[in-house]
Amino acid sequence: MDRIRIVGGAPLNGRIPISGAKNAALPLMIASLLTAETLTLENVPRLADVILLKRILGNHGAEVTVEGKRPSQDPFAGDTVRLTAGEIVDTTAPYDLVSKMRASFWVIGPLLARMGEAKVSLPGGCAIGTRPVDFFLTGLASLGASIEIEAGYVIAKAPAGGLVGGRVVFPKVSVGATHTVLMAAALARGETVIENAAREPEIVDLADCLVKMGAEIEGAGTSEIRVQGVSSLHAARHRVLPDRIETGTYAIAVAMAGGDVLLEGARYDLLESAFDVLVEAGAEVSTTNEGVRVARNGHGIGPVRVTTAPFPGFPTDLQAQLMALTAKAKGTSSITETIFENRFMHVQELARLGARIHLDGDTATIEGVEKLTGAPVMATDLRASVSLVIAGLAAEGETVVNRVYHLDRGFERLEAKLSQCGATIERVSD
Ligand code: UD1
Repeated sequence: MDRIRIVGGAPLNGRIPISGAKNAALPLMIASLLTAETLTLENVPRLADVILLKRILGNHGAEVTVEGKRPSQDPFAGDTVRLTAGEIVDTTAPYDLVSKMRASFWVIGPLLARMGEAKVSLPGGCAIGTRPVDFFLTGLASLGASIEIEAGYVIAKAPAGGLVGGRVVFPKVSVGATHTVLMAAALARGETVIENAAREPEIVDLADCLVKMGAEIEGAGTSEIRVQGVSSLHAARHRVLPDRIETGTYAIAVAMAGGDVLLEGARYDLLESAFDVLVEAGAEVSTTNEGVRVARNGHGIGPVRVTTAPFPGFPTDLQAQLMALTAKAKGTSSITETIFENRFMHVQELARLGARIHLDGDTATIEGVEKLTGAPVMATDLRASVSLVIAGLAAEGETVVNRVYHLDRGFERLEAKLSQCGATIERVSD
């Protein structure tokens, strides 16, 4: 099993290219099931989750090919992926595939809308809280679907004549349920109104792509989305937006290790809340026409108080990384996690490096320490693993992060991107 070995202490200087967003690429790829024509996606990151989703879509009959070769002068360029679901050969998404990645459950939306039926295993994914699917099911039921749960599978059927537009009111903001209902509504008859919709940039990216495919959608990026269903969708070409979580992760790494890095292709507007926090903590953040520049030279890290929230709030997907940063702040910070229960598995591992963190319910109080010391640690989920890498970069001595397959789900060539900025970091295979 691969491990990541880091020798901490070096500041980061240089450029880090930001990949296409995993959390946009996944729903965009799933949207290819809505049409028999080809959806071409540019800037798709090379990640384990993307490879797994290619298999899942292939199982439903989609042909997925990667266009051309990556140019040798740009080893970090995104892939151009062509997805053609000419015929849906199977409307079942089996347990052995869906259990590996929660987002694959979202195929239920397009399968149901296009084929009138879907049988999808209840999901698995990162072990961060219970993560139920009730909003998906009530949302699809509002479009006329009948839903049954049998032996670990959701069996959804559209009425004769297909899904019908309806009013969907989510009790709580859910990214996945918004993506899923949006895709289903694109092919439903009549108007669908989604209230309390997620406003994440990845929702806007999916809506933009669906519109290029012929869908009629208004309000994506606000909490009320209106969709006028159309009878079919067609071919389109779309570029995946940059990954704001990867951006924020490297920005936090620079704030923690010190140095000056240009995050190439990053978009400031996708991550204002997190950049504000980094500035409060003592980092300098500026935009350039090539991306976002983050620096911290000289002064120490200041403490912060942060509560995670749906977009445009501070993202839960950066909570673990921010906690690593606050572990070395001069003073006491507090971080409250409101999106997922049980998303604090990194706390124990950060403590192994010398962090002083006290957990009370959904709030962590972090008493900054002068220095962290390298140690072997264990990755538990995608974002937790990368928080350990960041902490390792700023710790004295050697940190070895075990179980790095979590990292490969969401960070493309992390060790290459960091080592080109001066970090001592390498992948070690047994
Ligand atoms: C997506 C992101 C994930 C991010 C999360 C929150 C992808 C591939 N994943 O996950 O990286 O951490 O948004 O920004 O884009 N909930 C219910 N019932 C439901 C659905 C959700 O109670 O039917 C709850 C969840 O348990 C959680 C909250 O709603 O407490 C938000 O979850 P949701 O936005 O759905 O997360 P994902 O879409 O799974």
